Amino acid sequence: MDPKLTPLIDSLPSTVPFVGPETLERSRNRLFTARLGANENGFGPAPSVITAMREHASDIWKYADPENFDLKQALARHLHVAPANIVVGEGVDTLLGLAVRQYVNEGTPVVTSLGAYPTFNFHVAGFGGRLVTVPYRNDREDLGALLDAVKRENAPLVYFSNPDNPMGTWWDSEEVERFIDALPPTTMLILDEAYGETAPASAKPAIDVSRSNVLRMRTFSKAFGLAGMRCGYAIGAAKQITAFDKIRNHFGMNKLTQIAALAALEDQDYLRQVVGKIIAARDRIGAIAAANGLKAIPSATNFVTIDCGQDGAFAQRILNGLIERDVFVRKPMAPGLDRCIRVSVGLDTELDIFEQQLPLALQAAKEQTEGE
Ligand SMILES: Cc1ncc(COP(=O)(O)O)c(C=O)c1O
Repeated sequence: MDPKLTPLIDSLPSTVPFVGPETLERSRNRLFTARLGANENGFGPAPSVITAMREHASDIWKYADPENFDLKQALARHLHVAPANIVVGEGVDTLLGLAVRQYVNEGTPVVTSLGAYPTFNFHVAGFGGRLVTVPYRNDREDLGALLDAVKRENAPLVYFSNPDNPMGTWWDSEEVERFIDALPPTTMLILDEAYGETAPASAKPAIDVSRSNVLRMRTFSKAFGLAGMRCGYAIGAAKQITAFDKIRNHFGMNKLTQIAALAALEDQDYLRQVVGKIIAARDRIGAIAAANGLKAIPSATNFVTIDCGQDGAFAQRILNGLIERDVFVRKPMAPGLDRCIRVSVGLDTELDIFEQQLPLALQAAKEQTEGE
């Protein structure tokens, strides 16, 4: 007799939200030459961050401060809120799981967009929630339809990412504020702003911690170039933030991560420079797409989603062709969005490879499609 899993865990499929590039490299038995698929930031963290980590490397025998005191103080100063309005965690992904746990029982309806960030869905499934999805409209999350679904289902939780992954599109703050104003007070909104730093200021509503039904989530993984360190934070009303402290892994944060995030936050000059590089790389990906007769969808993130102009099968062939040619990219999978591939920004050397390989992958995809 085996130890008995709970019926919920026993019922879950053995799927993961994303297959990592390392897994693909192992299965292909070959390394990628361009890593442009995981929305990382190949420009890397600030030199000041590396210096701070080096200086503190030998302190790593100590547990990290479980209260994340220094980082929370710095974030609070930076965001003009109180430390009590912030919870720090091991990336937005971890915070999403903790938030879902707070609002979702087995069977609870949870609203999101069809094809939106899959890690959120993964957590909802893990707590037995019932996902209610609404399709994108014109490649953007459809705020009206999300709201209708929330009201129809009386859902206690809704997820919306601004700017969005996987399309890179965004809503201006007036639209987001209108959405927030129209939400029932009993519905918690997770506003995922993982790409907030690369978005125009007009896409970020003023932070209002008097709202008890909004949790804004941000990360050091993208513009700050620290994906491997795992650091994110949520901003919200103090009562809702306290709920995270009741369940989070008290010693979950890495000590060097706290140091790296603090140093990154303090180096705003570097952040400005890197955002400039990200915007330039976005433009270059758009130009590469155009040179191949494809259309880049305008992006406010650190990636560009390219409309391949045909159906999902055609885009999948292009993606397969790129992977075969050692270029790691990903693609949206939901109906309607699946006509696209998604290319993260990277160093010029990696974009050079993408530029060389895309025409070959595209040609191969066209030949396969014609040969059908
Ligand atoms: C919308 C969105 N949220 C969250 C994350 C993950 O953030 P973190 O690395 O802080 O877990 C990503 C990463 O791709 C993302 O696209």
